[in-house]
Amino acid sequence: MALFSEHFIRRVRDANDIAQIVESYNVALRRTGTNFIGLCPFHNEKTPSFNVNPQLQIFKCFGCGVGGDAFKFIQLIERVEFPESIEILANRAGIPVEKEEGQEYRREKSDTDSREALLWANSRALAYFERMLADQAEGRRAREYLLGRGFTKETISTWRLGWAPERWDGLLEAMVREAGEHKRDKVLKAGVLAGVLRKNDEGRVYDAFRGRVMFPILDNRHRPIGFGGRVFEEKPEAGGKYINTSEGRLFQKRKLLFGLNFAAKEITLTKTAVVVEGYTDTIMSHQYGIRNTIATLGTSLTREHVQLLRRYIQPNGRVIALFDSDAAGEKATERASEIFMEEDVPLHIVRNLEVKDAGEFLPKYGVDAFKDHMAGAVDSFNFVLQQSMRNCGNDVSSRAAAVAKVMEFVNRSPNRVKREMMRKEVSARSGVPEESLPRKAADSSKESRFSKPSTPARRGLGSKQAAQKAMELVIDSASEGRMACERRLVRYMFERKEWSEKAADRFPPYMFRDNSCSEMAKVIRDAWDKGNRPEPSDLMAADPENAGGLIAELTMRENETPLSNEE
Ligand code: UTP
Ligand code: MN
Repeated sequence: MALFSEHFIRRVRDANDIAQIVESYNVALRRTGTNFIGLCPFHNEKTPSFNVNPQLQIFKCFGCGVGGDAFKFIQLIERVEFPESIEILANRAGIPVEKEEGQEYRREKSDTDSREALLWANSRALAYFERMLADQAEGRRAREYLLGRGFTKETISTWRLGWAPERWDGLLEAMVREAGEHKRDKVLKAGVLAGVLRKNDEGRVYDAFRGRVMFPILDNRHRPIGFGGRVFEEKPEAGGKYINTSEGRLFQKRKLLFGLNFAAKEITLTKTAVVVEGYTDTIMSHQYGIRNTIATLGTSLTREHVQLLRRYIQPNGRVIALFDSDAAGEKATERASEIFMEEDVPLHIVRNLEVKDAGEFLPKYGVDAFKDHMAGAVDSFNFVLQQSMRNCGNDVSSRAAAVAKVMEFVNRSPNRVKREMMRKEVSARSGVPEESLPRKAADSSKESRFSKPSTPARRGLGSKQAAQKAMELVIDSASEGRMACERRLVRYMFERKEWSEKAADRFPPYMFRDNSCSEMAKVIRDAWDKGNRPEPSDLMAADPENAGGLIAELTMRENETPLSNEE
């Protein structure tokens, strides 16, 4: 039963470039002769053995042996079957999916799968907004507005900016036309769920975005999952300056970063991410060649954002925050500093732009001046230290208050070594002897609360000292050895309830730097809490991508290599 014709498959294959596909999954490739080479996304490695041959459009990893064409790559990385890999690549290339047999069955299925329906509604909306912006008459004012702000035509097309006309049913009817009148109900339902349509109290459905310039929010596969829409003319009745897709299954602001789909590669390569506040700041930065720029979606920066970014910049990377030059930007900078400190991800701060934001700065002062500002970014600790000491009065109480504030900031860091280094600097700067500076609560009660597991280790995994050692190491290790330590700690947690409890106490899941370890730690803890022994399948469910490796380690422990600084 062929779902796709040979012809269609060939067309999809021709429309995609394997190197670009691989890179879109955050595999940084560099050229070596005719091939590209990079770190294999299918196994852990330090030296690249993952080869991509752009002429043959194939890949091969000489480390773990996987290889194949673009479809195979998608099957492996997305964990899907061949037909889905074709759909994914067809979508990516903007080729409408044509199926031969089994079509009705599959249509039905995807109609009822709301995730698919949401993606469909968003992609139809995006196509409509783009069409409207390009329309000679309809899109004229919006085009003039965007060009007038200094966005180039190329930028407009890359970022797929659009225009939502001043109509109540423009998108709605376009969607119904496309799907067929007999699907009207389904279309309306999907559109409302996706947030591109709205339903009023009387049950009437209408376009959610009207009279707005549209900024699509794309996921890492460049699929639209939401929109921000901006008014650009004085309109008394209009809502806010921007309205955004409301929170839903695909669109969760606390987890999303605008522009990450375009910025991911550059962030990985430079090990630096630049966070700005607005859509326009992000787009303008990219237009001026600063392609590692991303933005939050009108929310403040969350822990999830930091953890997401960490995956792209680790190890040894950093984030530069360049927020608006107003009080809100000031506040956002302060809060971001705290979260980054707690997550132990280096944050550098730019705070003295001559104008309100990056989007305004770049066209006015140019990219060199912009880069000067970035080069002058101050790391958040020094930023907080300088600010507090500079802004406080000269009397003892206000200086003491400033020191207390800085130390509170310092003690947010889970990294013992860094805390000690910062203490030294606070002491030097304030004249307060180090031993008088307040310590982190955990440091003073350092005597371990988990030194005596009551039963011996099962299956010879390790001694109580080993478990404790792993925990200590995780807490203190520099980022290099840290992943290994975290994985080992997860394994200990998996092995024994006591260790899970002790670890959870001292080292709760959010402190894991590795997202997948953090997810697994949560699941393990939940299982123990419910009185169950955690199962490998729980781990698989928590993190299908990475659990396999860990489970393999659990079952093949004999081959364990000692942690680097373990005696
Ligand atoms: P800004 O008001 O700074 O907008 O809000 P901007 O992106 O710089 O746009 P321009 O340059 O003035 O045209 C920053 C971000 O906050 C969110 C949006 O994500 C915006 O990009 N925001 C702002 C909203 O969600 N709603 C609003 O009403 C305003
Ligand atoms: Mn702004």
